[in-house]
Amino acid sequence: MKVLDAEFTQGFIRMANDGWEQGWHERNGGNLSYRMKSEEVDMVKEEFSTGDWREIGTCVPDLAGEFFMVTGSGKFFRNVIIKPAESFGIIEIDEKGENYRIMWGLEGGARPTSELPSHLMNHEVKKRVTDGKYRVIYHAHTTNVIALTFVLPLTDEVFTRELWEMATECPVVFPDGIGVVPWMVPGGREIAVETSKLMEKYDVAIWAHHGMFAAGEDFDLTFGLMHTVEKSAEILVKTLSMTNAKRQTITPDDFRHLAKDFKVTLPEKFLFEK
Ligand code: 13P
Ligand code: ZN
Repeated sequence: MKVLDAEFTQGFIRMANDGWEQGWHERNGGNLSYRMKSEEVDMVKEEFSTGDWREIGTCVPDLAGEFFMVTGSGKFFRNVIIKPAESFGIIEIDEKGENYRIMWGLEGGARPTSELPSHLMNHEVKKRVTDGKYRVIYHAHTTNVIALTFVLPLTDEVFTRELWEMATECPVVFPDGIGVVPWMVPGGREIAVETSKLMEKYDVAIWAHHGMFAAGEDFDLTFGLMHTVEKSAEILVKTLSMTNAKRQTITPDDFRHLAKDFKVTLPEKFLFEK
């Protein structure tokens, strides 16, 4: 089967285009990666050709031998749907987890995203803590979440609580909460290490003044998670634009009742008295 005809490729393209349509991917902003299933690799490998090994820039031994579909550095999400083979590709990780090689796509001398260290270190954590269930890592430049990183304290507690409060579905969609990485230089190992530490306990990490990383089982759940967090941030931005004093809101006890009925565990550290 051709790579472009495979269902997972179609899912990858649709997710990238949905993100573009949301306005989260100005120019080359954002990147997406998907850890392929072995049967998917077998299904499309007739189209593979082997590129040279190149350094990842970090070490991900638990991803040795895995194949990833990943967007290219400097590539525009806007173009993914019309120029797929130039905008993204498939890479293989070597047996040490230190190098990758391009097996398909990234045509015209393209390389994987500059955030490959963050993507792969997040995948490595999620593969371990979810027993291999999680396959998608998504980075987007979500406008409202970025705006909030200029006005809220940069703590997991404040961001989680504020975003939970703005839409009743939030604590059900991300019960574990959200992590925050202070401003750091993007594109390297250092920010990847900090982000992957947060991915041990959360599915979402905010990069202050930059954007968000979301992790999930499949394209729908990961996109839906990003969308839910950003929508909640939009409601908070609108609310703060009207007033800095909410007249009423969802209280800590309300959250405790919700947790019981919806059978989710909400860590008490987010249910502080304000
Ligand atoms: P890439 O074009 O290298 O994927 O970088 C975009 C980005 O969002 C960096 O954080
Ligand atoms: Zn970015």
